[in-house]
Amino acid sequence: MKILITGASSGLGAELARQYASAENELILLARREDKLFELRNELYEKVKNIDIIVADVTDFVSLQEKLKTIVCVDIIILNAGVSLGHSSNPQNIPTIDEFQNLFNVNILSNHAILEILLPKLVEQKSGKIVFISSLASLFSMPSSKIYSSSKRALNAYAEGIRYKYNSDGIKVINILPGFIKSELTDKNDFNMPFLLETQDGVSRIVKAIANNRRIYAFPLRFYLIIRFLNLLPSFLREKIVNSIN
Ligand SMILES: NC(=O)c1ccc[n+]([C@@H]2O[C@H](COP(=O)([O-])OP(=O)(O)OC[C@H]3O[C@@H](n4cnc5c(N)ncnc54)[C@H](OP(=O)(O)O)[C@@H]3O)[C@@H](O)[C@H]2O)c1
Repeated sequence: MKILITGASSGLGAELARQYASAENELILLARREDKLFELRNELYEKVKNIDIIVADVTDFVSLQEKLKTIVCVDIIILNAGVSLGHSSNPQNIPTIDEFQNLFNVNILSNHAILEILLPKLVEQKSGKIVFISSLASLFSMPSSKIYSSSKRALNAYAEGIRYKYNSDGIKVINILPGFIKSELTDKNDFNMPFLLETQDGVSRIVKAIANNRRIYAFPLRFYLIIRFLNLLPSFLREKIVNSIN
C-alpha cells in the first residue's frame, strides 16, 4: 500500500509512519521540518518498501499542490497535519485574526488543497481511503479551545460531505476523533488532560480503525460518552459545568 501521511514530523503522524512501516508499504511523509522527516526516514528505511519525503508547508497551497502533483498513485491519504493555539501571545489572551486564519488554513483548508489534487487519482483507481484526523474537541467547545474546536467541527462536516460524494466511487472516508494523546501538541497544555493516552496506544487504535474502515471513530470511549452525555444536557446546565471546569 502507498500511504501519504501529513504532519509526519512528530506526534501522531510520526508514530503512524512507524506503525505502517513494513515491507509491503510505501510511505510518503509530509511536513515542514526537514530534519525531523529525514531522521524518521533513517529510522524506518530498512523496514519499508520505499519512503519518500515531501517538505512542505500545508498553508502554502500553490507550492503544496505543485509538490503533490509528483504523486502518481496513493492508497491511503492520512490528513493529520494540525495545530492548536496553545497559549496565545496576546496579553489579553484573545487570539489574533492571523492566528485564527493560520489555524483554519492548516486544520481545514489545507485538506481541500491536498484532495483537490489527489482525489481524482482515487476516483480513477476506484479505490482508496481518506483519513481525517479530527478531535473529540469538535464535539464540545471549551472557552480556551473555541477556535480549535470550530476548525475540527468544520472538518467533521467536510469529511461527511466527502464521504457521501465519493462512496459510490469505492473511496472509504474515515473520520478519527481522538481525545488527548501525548504529542508536541498536548505537551503545550498546562491543564489536567483526562484519559490522556500514550502516543503508541492512541495511534495503534487509529491504525485499527483505518483497517476496519470505521466511518467515525471517537475514542477513548469513556471520554466520548461523557461528552455525548454533556451534549444532551440543556445548554444552561452545560454552561454551569463548563464554567466550573474552567
Ligand atoms: N495529540 C492529541 O491529543 C490530539 C487529539 C485530537 C486530535 N489531534 C490531531 O492530531 C493531529 C496531529 O497532532 P499531534 O498531536 O501529533 O501534534 P504535533 O506533534 O504537534 O504534530 C503536528 C504535525 O503537523 C505538522 N504541521 C503543523 N503545521 C503544519 C504546516 N503549516 N505545514 C505542514 N505541516 C504542519 C507538524 O509538522 P511541522 O511542524 O514539521 O510542519 C507536525 O508534524 C492534529 O491534526 C491534531 O489536531 C491530536
